[in-house]
Amino acid sequence: MDIFDSDILFEKAVCIVKNAGCILLEQTLASRISQKGKTDFVTAVDVKVQDEIKKELYKLNSQIQFMGEEQDNTDIDTKRPVWILDPVDGTTNLIHGFCNSAVSLALADDNRVIFGIVYNPFSNEIFTAKSGEGALCNDRSIHVSYAESLSESLCSVGSNPSKRQCADEAFERMRRLYDRCHDIRRIGAASIELCYVACGRLDAYLEHELKPWDFAAGKLIVEEAGGIVTDFNGNDPLLNENSSDIAASSGLIHSELLSVI
Ligand code: IPD
Ligand code: CA
Ligand code: CA
Repeated sequence: MDIFDSDILFEKAVCIVKNAGCILLEQTLASRISQKGKTDFVTAVDVKVQDEIKKELYKLNSQIQFMGEEQDNTDIDTKRPVWILDPVDGTTNLIHGFCNSAVSLALADDNRVIFGIVYNPFSNEIFTAKSGEGALCNDRSIHVSYAESLSESLCSVGSNPSKRQCADEAFERMRRLYDRCHDIRRIGAASIELCYVACGRLDAYLEHELKPWDFAAGKLIVEEAGGIVTDFNGNDPLLNENSSDIAASSGLIHSELLSVI
């Protein structure tokens, strides 16, 4: 027997994410910073948003597991229903007042995402997708671009600041891509970059070693908008605690993209 009605959960989760998303705009909280690593930060906003969303999701259904960036997730079984939350994707942006950060929430079961929500309160854009039902931005249907080759593409490349040991490889990859496309962009929030692929503002996006909370919601949004998301070898990235290299594109250019990286 199902333990939830995903349509009802979706409607409620959108409200929860929007309410908590407003906390990202509170500058005093964003200035309360601690460091998880040399270039890996957490602010009082990350903690407050995660606490608030976790509490509200638990009230909706106490049987669904909760995976969140700001907690230990070792006991999560991704074969069973699980919320996957990044309370603030783009914390470094938040700290610097570079207004591109989002709340990213997905509901997954049996290692597949059922719906995804990415809310950027700075642009007041909410990107959503339900599996098999298409993708939306602020309730309007969105579609990936129709670019047929990298030579007509605008591409975004993530530099994953907490994996600096991979920097040489990442920047060489970026250079190879740059040589083939119109230009390179970098927003600094994986979930937003994925949503920009979904709505055609970008044709492709790459980043090494992302966590499920960075990409789970955005991946479904890209796929429901007609695009493709794989790891760098063309495989489906896993939703467990491990990291995955992510390549997202409008689809027609995906094999060319993988051949360049
Ligand atoms: C980070 C952002 C950033 C990406 C990093 C992520 P965080 O997430 O998505 O764009 O380069 O790899 O870790 O730490 O701001 O939630
Ligand atoms: Ca993140
Ligand atoms: Ca985060």
